Amino acid sequence: MTEDKENKTGIMERKRKRKQNDRNKKNPENQNNHNQDKDQKNAVKEDKEKKSEGKTTKQEVTLEDNNKRKHKIVFPFGNYRNYYGYRINEVDGDPRLKVFERDWFQGKDCLDIGCNSGILTIQIARKFHCKSILGIDIDSDRVSDAYWHLRKFARTENVEKNSTKVARLEVKNKVNGAKHSASASSVETKEDSSASSKGDLFEVVSFRQENFVQSQRPSEKQYDTILCLSVTKWIHLNWGDDGLITLFSKIWRLLHPGGILVLEPQPWQSYEKNRRVSETTAMNYRTILFRPESFREILLDKIGFRRVEDITDGLSGSKAGFDRPIFVYHK
Ligand SMILES: C[S@@+](CC[C@H](N)C(=O)[O-])C[C@H]1O[C@@H](n2cnc3c(N)ncnc32)[C@H](O)[C@@H]1O
Repeated sequence: MTEDKENKTGIMERKRKRKQNDRNKKNPENQNNHNQDKDQKNAVKEDKEKKSEGKTTKQEVTLEDNNKRKHKIVFPFGNYRNYYGYRINEVDGDPRLKVFERDWFQGKDCLDIGCNSGILTIQIARKFHCKSILGIDIDSDRVSDAYWHLRKFARTENVEKNSTKVARLEVKNKVNGAKHSASASSVETKEDSSASSKGDLFEVVSFRQENFVQSQRPSEKQYDTILCLSVTKWIHLNWGDDGLITLFSKIWRLLHPGGILVLEPQPWQSYEKNRRVSETTAMNYRTILFRPESFREILLDKIGFRRVEDITDGLSGSKAGFDRPIFVYHK
């Protein structure tokens, strides 16, 4: 190859890589689910971590077996793998946590519809001290991911608690003039884990695979707070206007009087980008009559919520494509 040809090939390769990077940086919800390369890399990376725990899901095995084949992954329910990898800025965390109020969660029974891999559900439980929080998701793989994250968070919490206890013991020993001994700290550490600090999170947080629109449970528990964040579009596209009304009516039924619905609906423009994820979504997209702009009227006038607050103002630091409004509906 001549030097000139080599230069041209190099330039073209760099251009191709830059284009690929630009595509990968974009929000998966804005791409008809075509963010495959990054998603596969993340899937394989997470897969390795999970395998070391002896956990793997069917989809992940397929991925590894077909490593060399071009493999297209479609997420027709918004059930993305590594959703929070795209959505959350690692430094600042989830901006929604900053506008949520402690009162909505502390000592309350909460339900998170469409919890994906459970990261936000767990963070809410840890930050606001819910009495209980149940995350449900239509995709059983996401529920497995959520339990994997729960174990990971619980382990971290355990380590933090143990080191705090050891530090406290060291101070106490110093104050008493006693020389700190390794055996004393190990006794204390053992006591702490036997008191099951790991158990705390597990007692509060749970996850379940469930299609919220179609499931029927004989004696349904009621909740003080229900979260429905970035889920309406997927229910709307998959089950049409009927599905949306079922979602809203069921939420109303499951809320205690005085309970709240925290709703983050996706705007209508974003429906267009995902309409072709399946034949069903393409068909529903054409027949949908209720646009997100009319959700407020439906929830207040038809479903029966008393009032609504718009808490979007305080939101800042959302990644592009995720700067959506958030409303709190009071039953
Ligand atoms: C875009 S993600 C939003 C995740 C999370 N709520 C958040 O905002 O961080 C939407 C989630 O809703 C779930 N989902 C869609 N339809 C559902 C249904 N009918 N029942 C339960 N979960 C559903 C998907 O599997 C997906 O994990």
